Amino acid sequence: MPISRSVKDALGSSSMIRKMFEEGNLLKKQHGADKVFDFSIGNPDIEPPDAFHRVLLRFAQEDAAGLTKGVHGYMPNPGFPAVRDALAKKASREQGVTLDGSHIIMTVGAAGGLNVVFKTILNPADEVIVPRPYFMEYKSYVGNHEGILREVDSLPDFNLDLDAISKALSEKTAAVLINSPHNPTGRIYPAATLRALAEILEAHGKKTGRYPFLVADEPYREIVYISGGTPPVLAAYRHSISVTSYSKSLSLPGERIGYIAVNPGIQDEEDLLSGLIYATRVLGYVNAPALMQRIVAELTEESVDVGVYARRRDAFKTVLDKAGIPYANPEGAFYLFAKVPPKKGGSTAVTDIVGDDGAFVNHLKQYLILGVPGSGFGKPGWLRFAYCVDETLIRASGEAFKKAMETWV
Ligand SMILES: Cc1ncc(COP(=O)(O)O)c(C=O)c1O
Repeated sequence: MPISRSVKDALGSSSMIRKMFEEGNLLKKQHGADKVFDFSIGNPDIEPPDAFHRVLLRFAQEDAAGLTKGVHGYMPNPGFPAVRDALAKKASREQGVTLDGSHIIMTVGAAGGLNVVFKTILNPADEVIVPRPYFMEYKSYVGNHEGILREVDSLPDFNLDLDAISKALSEKTAAVLINSPHNPTGRIYPAATLRALAEILEAHGKKTGRYPFLVADEPYREIVYISGGTPPVLAAYRHSISVTSYSKSLSLPGERIGYIAVNPGIQDEEDLLSGLIYATRVLGYVNAPALMQRIVAELTEESVDVGVYARRRDAFKTVLDKAGIPYANPEGAFYLFAKVPPKKGGSTAVTDIVGDDGAFVNHLKQYLILGVPGSGFGKPGWLRFAYCVDETLIRASGEAFKKAMETWV
């Protein structure tokens, strides 16, 4: 029995990334892991803060001593009430609006949260507008629920192109999906941009009777290098939903824990909250992992040491500056989005991936440098480097980058 056409097609189109991953592993086997400059994967390598281990240990001890009962059982689908209350306080502080526990739905990471949101709000052929470049899984998250991802350009500095978003709005628009701090560009959308976007969406809603949701994917909200942090989306627009996780802020991607924060006063609030709870159940998540819920509720003031990422960012910028490779200056997250540099002379590069970003990625591979082509993010001509690797490896890559540029002719 063959697998479904849609999954078969998706396997075909995601093979570029899979190939990168497999090639990276092969190169590490051949040359040794410390000789390969693998900047392809956004898997945080910093350990969770000490406070995480302390709480984990305390819960395990209390549990083993029989002091807690029922903490590993099923619970209400949106999560433990006490956890939702604690996170409502945190989200209220960050988002500049007052939420209570009913506005928080605990999720299986941000990925699970986005699927829950799109399952809840999309009718078949509804559109979700997303600025390019974008996290490549969005197409699946929207397509999973019969929606269509409508891509629009960003401005050259990767801020939102409000005109492009405005032109893409129609009666089919269910949502605008933004991600800040941004993967792959590291851009943080300024508060003024969010306010201007909100005005456009309000005006569209007034005219058509359908207010698009503004869905903010915010797993990097706390990995910020500029002053002022990540401007709040909930304060900017009434019909907004924030989806976040602890994958990056506490370095817990494998533990699959996050939450949705819904703006109080959002359109059809009661239906929406009930829908999100229903979707959590029927998508098969049932509820977010119980132990992790209890732990993150105790760690609302904690995060990984962002200084570590900041130092790596600076080291990587120096490497690229010296090699003469232009890039977008990252304000947050842990990615550098670099522009494929012009060649010095005639082409000798051979590509088996589409576009010049593929050619440059292949060229770098000869020097054991691994990045991901921008085509995979809907932005050919660019490539992404993830700096979830030790600073010494970043510094050591300088020589390899320099050599690679000498032969990029
Ligand atoms: C932009 C973006 N959104 C969502 C996710 C998924 O995060 P999570 O591990 O919390 O599901 C990622 C993971 O890398 C991401 O980069």
